[in-house]
Amino acid sequence: MVNRDKIFEASAMIRHSRRVVGFTGAGVSEESGISTFRDPNGLWNRYSGGASGGIMGILKRHPEAANELFSEMLQTFKSCAPNPGHYAFADLEKMGYLKSIITQNGDNLHQDAGSLKVFELHGNLFRFRCLDCAQKKHFPKDELFSFVENILLNIKQFSIAWVMPYLPSCECGGKMRPDIVTFGESVHQLDEATEEVCKCDLMLISGTSGMVYPAAALPVDAKKNGAKLIEINPNESTLTARCDLFLPGKTGEILPEIVKEIQEMRE
Ligand code: OAD
Repeated sequence: MVNRDKIFEASAMIRHSRRVVGFTGAGVSEESGISTFRDPNGLWNRYSGGASGGIMGILKRHPEAANELFSEMLQTFKSCAPNPGHYAFADLEKMGYLKSIITQNGDNLHQDAGSLKVFELHGNLFRFRCLDCAQKKHFPKDELFSFVENILLNIKQFSIAWVMPYLPSCECGGKMRPDIVTFGESVHQLDEATEEVCKCDLMLISGTSGMVYPAAALPVDAKKNGAKLIEINPNESTLTARCDLFLPGKTGEILPEIVKEIQEMRE
């Protein structure tokens, strides 16, 4: 049950802020059917090697699981759509409160819900990057799904050498890889995200355990710069103790209530 006092307090804090920035993680897409990483049913808990090495860590340890893993991901992404939490973030931007979202998600659901300014620290699953000239290309979802289906028809054991011929080609002739960040690689758009964090006076955090750096340092930087922090999460995270207001619960249930409250306050 959403606590009305906390909804009211969060709405007032947002209304009285100059620049609100969102900071999101896998939990905001949980209600869209995408499993998180570290919850009991999360990807890193279901396959050993994930917590220390991410997807590549899983594939290295369980090359025979590639078909099962990619099939599950394909089904999930084919059927998923933005949930009320994603739409509420987009509404806050349209209403002029939220200036941007810094996300660790690469599922494109914030953009699908209508959010315009999104910084994707861990890249985007629907974008590819040329291994030779670094040019990026965003693929329509259907095109990407057929490409993965083609791999699934043939794949038995995963290896980089095996998958290379299946990767799409760039105009320059080079092979293109998914433009997502795997463990050990540099995050994307960190300078732009840090600039947003330094300018904000309120950060709205949701759906992250706050366990992966450098992303998890951004709320700490915001706080150091004097910003207030609000967190929505069914569970306490490593960031909760620093937050000025913690709303326990799901983003898709709580954030739309906050948006509704702000709309009523404005009338
Ligand atoms: P985690 O799986 O670490 O954390 C998910 C968080 O979402 C937890 O704190 C949950 O309690 C919370 N949660 C679950 N359902 C929720 C809901 N409906 N509404 C709000 N919160 C909910 O995911 P991230 O913090 O995003 O990186 O993980 C960060 C990074 O670790 C990922 O981007 C990924 C992973 O390794 C890479 O792969 C590079």
